Amino acid sequence: MVKISFQPAVAGVKGDKADKAAEERPPQPRYKKGGSVGSVCYLSMGMVVLLTGLVFASVYIYRYFFLAQLARDNFFHCGVFYEDPLSAQMPARMELEEDVKIYLEENYERINVPVPQFGGGDPADIIHDFQRGLTAYHDISLDKCYVIELNTTIVLPPRNFWELLMNVKRGTYLPQTYIIQEEMVVTEHVNDKEALGSFIYHLCSGKDTYRLRRRATQRRITKRGAKNCSAIRHFENTFVVETRICGVV
Ligand SMILES: *[C@@H]1O[C@H](CO)[C@@H](O)[C@H](O)[C@H]1NC(C)=O
Ligand SMILES: *[C@@H]1O[C@H](CO)[C@@H](O)[C@H](O)[C@H]1NC(C)=O
Repeated sequence: MVKISFQPAVAGVKGDKADKAAEERPPQPRYKKGGSVGSVCYLSMGMVVLLTGLVFASVYIYRYFFLAQLARDNFFHCGVFYEDPLSAQMPARMELEEDVKIYLEENYERINVPVPQFGGGDPADIIHDFQRGLTAYHDISLDKCYVIELNTTIVLPPRNFWELLMNVKRGTYLPQTYIIQEEMVVTEHVNDKEALGSFIYHLCSGKDTYRLRRRATQRRITKRGAKNCSAIRHFENTFVVETRICGVV
């Protein structure tokens, strides 16, 4: 009875349901269709957002590491071309390369001059300690250390040298330049190297170390080998310096 009375109801419900389903079903594919288009839209928008995020992230990461690296090691490998009046060939276009490390906080510069390709002086390690006001040359081929007062008219301070090198870092070569010569004379043996400051101490420890004095009467450019002198060519400014270190005569 209940069943019977229920049946039509069920049928009615079924019919209703079927109707509803029929009503509901047609939109379903439409909905689904629209959904697939929509999801493609959402997907591509998501991709765009993701890609934009990725691009921004990589820009940030790149800049972060680039700047961090700049701040961490102020290391430069740089070179310069210069006219050399001492050379046999004319005109003599010489090339000098060196590694420069600039320590802005500690206020000193460290320069390594490798073995020159065309016989332009000795390889050397050089420290310009602006805190102590001292320059030290380690002549690598003689394995001797020479110390003299820092000449601030020749050597750019760390910040200025850093700016100069930053401006040419892309090209790595400084503009064509000239060479000046300075002559030093050995004055005395240095026993207390710790008094030279820790940077020069580390450079010169275990090496014969001498004090230098600038030779005042230096007018003409002297040919190499003319005296018992060694020469180191380097630059810490817009020009090249040949430092001649001569024994006591
Ligand atoms: C520094 O170098 C310049 C150029 O060679 C020279 O004229 C000057 O006398 C030097 N100054 C000192 C204190 O050695
Ligand atoms: C000068 O010559 C002597 C030997 O002849 C050598 O021991 C010394 O290192 C030389 N000095 C320089 C500055 O080259």
